[in-house]
Amino acid sequence: MNQTSHPQAEPTHARVQPDFNAREYFDRIYQRPVILEAKKLTQTFKHGKTQRTILNALDLKIHKREFICVIGPSGCGKSTFSRVVAGLDPYTEGEILVDGQPILGPSPERGMVFQGYTLFPWKTVKENVMFGPQMKGQSHASAEAHAREWINIIGLEKYENQYPHQLSGGMKQRVAIARALVNEPKILLMDEPFGALDPHTRQKMQRHLMDLWQNIDITIIFVTHDMDEAILLADRIVALKANPGEIKEIIEVDLPRPRSPDVILTPEFKALRQRVDQLVHAQEDELDPALADLPSIPRMTQVSHRK
Ligand SMILES: Nc1ncnc2c1ncn2[C@@H]1O[C@H](COP(=O)(O)OP(=O)(O)OP(=O)(O)O)[C@@H](O)[C@H]1O
Ligand SMILES: [Mg+2]
Repeated sequence: MNQTSHPQAEPTHARVQPDFNAREYFDRIYQRPVILEAKKLTQTFKHGKTQRTILNALDLKIHKREFICVIGPSGCGKSTFSRVVAGLDPYTEGEILVDGQPILGPSPERGMVFQGYTLFPWKTVKENVMFGPQMKGQSHASAEAHAREWINIIGLEKYENQYPHQLSGGMKQRVAIARALVNEPKILLMDEPFGALDPHTRQKMQRHLMDLWQNIDITIIFVTHDMDEAILLADRIVALKANPGEIKEIIEVDLPRPRSPDVILTPEFKALRQRVDQLVHAQEDELDPALADLPSIPRMTQVSHRK
């Protein structure tokens, strides 16, 4: 990590307060500059002859160094929102700004880690992480030094010469995180990054991500289906409703930091969980139309009842 070009993060101890005051914590967040702003952001897609509105006039302000989780029922537009912020998809109406500048396409200032492992299969771990710095014009030696720094941070130095197919799912996601962070992005966009991992690996990855976030200067936008994960990680949870995708509620997660996995057992966590559950489950009637009419499966094998 190039500390000279990266503004210094707030030291970890500033967030480690035994007498955590949630109101003060959030007031401090809201005093920070807005890093991402959606103004009446609208996304429509053509389905046959009709036009479907997926995101409907979304207004949202995310502040520097916030950890935002986005939740909502399947099909409500979470990935559509991520892709627009990533600059992968154009949007139909409204505005989306990073540091006051409109998003016009992908940029290394917005790192991406999505669920499908997006590593180059023909490149080693080190070459995957070097890719961004090399694209920015760094020499081989400098890109290699940067890549090594990040490979060490994610604890995969012994694997730097391995190829993605030789790694576990958790390792691949760590490489994907390093590959995004080596570019020193302002925003890290994560769309269900741990969705394919087993519960134990997922918990370790959550802890690792929280550690990273508390020690570097980065804003994280994290899409998840898992409500426990959202409450564990987020400063604020943006709950979307479907049909069309709109913000139903923004919840401040007023649990002290740093959070250990045991926080899940506390009454405060359980109360938040109940609130988030109610929000999302109240939306069963707002599901993606594609899910409303699931076909019955025809029998495809001959099954005999006779022995
Ligand atoms: N490129 C596209 N063209 C047409 N329709 C699209 C396109 N991308 C997404 N959609 C539609 O937009 C809706 C929202 O999709 P999106 O992938 O954003 O949902 P999601 O909230 O991420 O769902 P999930 O939780 O299942 O991942 C869906 O109905 C989908 O069919
Ligand atoms: Mg999705």
